[in-house]
Amino acid sequence: MIFAFANQKGGVGKTTTAVTLADGLARMKKRTLLVDLDPQGHLALSFGLEKSPGLYRLVCLDEPLSSVVVPVRPNLDLVAGDKQTEKVKRQITLADFRETILSDILASSAYDAVLLDLAPSLDVLHINGLIAADWVVIPTRLDALAVDGVKEILTTMAEIGRNGHSYRGYSILPTFFDRTTRETLLQFEELTRVFGASVWPPVPQDTRVRETAAYGQTLWEYSPRSTSIEGFKDGRQRLGGYRQVLARVLEVLDA
Ligand SMILES: Nc1ncnc2c1ncn2[C@@H]1O[C@H](COP(=O)(O)OP(=O)(O)OP(=O)(O)O)[C@@H](O)[C@H]1O
Ligand SMILES: [Mg+2]
Repeated sequence: MIFAFANQKGGVGKTTTAVTLADGLARMKKRTLLVDLDPQGHLALSFGLEKSPGLYRLVCLDEPLSSVVVPVRPNLDLVAGDKQTEKVKRQITLADFRETILSDILASSAYDAVLLDLAPSLDVLHINGLIAADWVVIPTRLDALAVDGVKEILTTMAEIGRNGHSYRGYSILPTFFDRTTRETLLQFEELTRVFGASVWPPVPQDTRVRETAAYGQTLWEYSPRSTSIEGFKDGRQRLGGYRQVLARVLEVLDA
């Protein structure tokens, strides 16, 4: 099953979420593949590796998936990216079947879960990622423009749907959740009012998350008991965290 992590807005937690959930799935013995669709190449850095042209070799040089992937953790492989990913966009623009190149390449892969980390842009690669996906996860910050950003990507998905590509579903993942901020709580309420059960448990704002990438480790390695893994505990209930989000991903995967 293929998940895309998408939001045209930048810095909302797409890469962090993809890395954390991918390693979470791998730790649960699911064979997992992460694919970097962003020329920023942040997935490789997240695992302490150099950026490399994995996606370029896969799409432009026609190399098989098995020779392009880099094993980064037990049960977890990576198709890395770097600035050569820009050439992939050009190749896709010139090719006949430009909208489904990625979905064709990934269709026969033997992974339990494939997680696509999309760039904050609306280009051919972004569209390819959305079309390849069975399920789209939309991470969003909880600021005044959050609902608008989510609506934008849902509009893009609806347009793609009208061209005959359908999704099994989508989920909205509130990130940088700070329950002490009135704006966060208001926006969380608004998201839930508009999108109901499609809103997943939020991931708290947590400085440990920011530090994690700098050490080339995943959150499960660097800080397995951090707030963002466990969620806020207020004596009665947990308000979110990656453990709960992972449980939702597993529900989707096993459905
Ligand atoms: N829950 C969190 N708490 C604190 N910092 C976070 C959290 N999630 C992500 N960050 C930090 O915020 C920054 C942006 O996150 P990330 O790179 O995952 O966003 P992105 O949506 O992938 O960005 P881009 O649009 O540039 O690809 C990173 O420095 C990351 O470490
Ligand atoms: Mg990113």
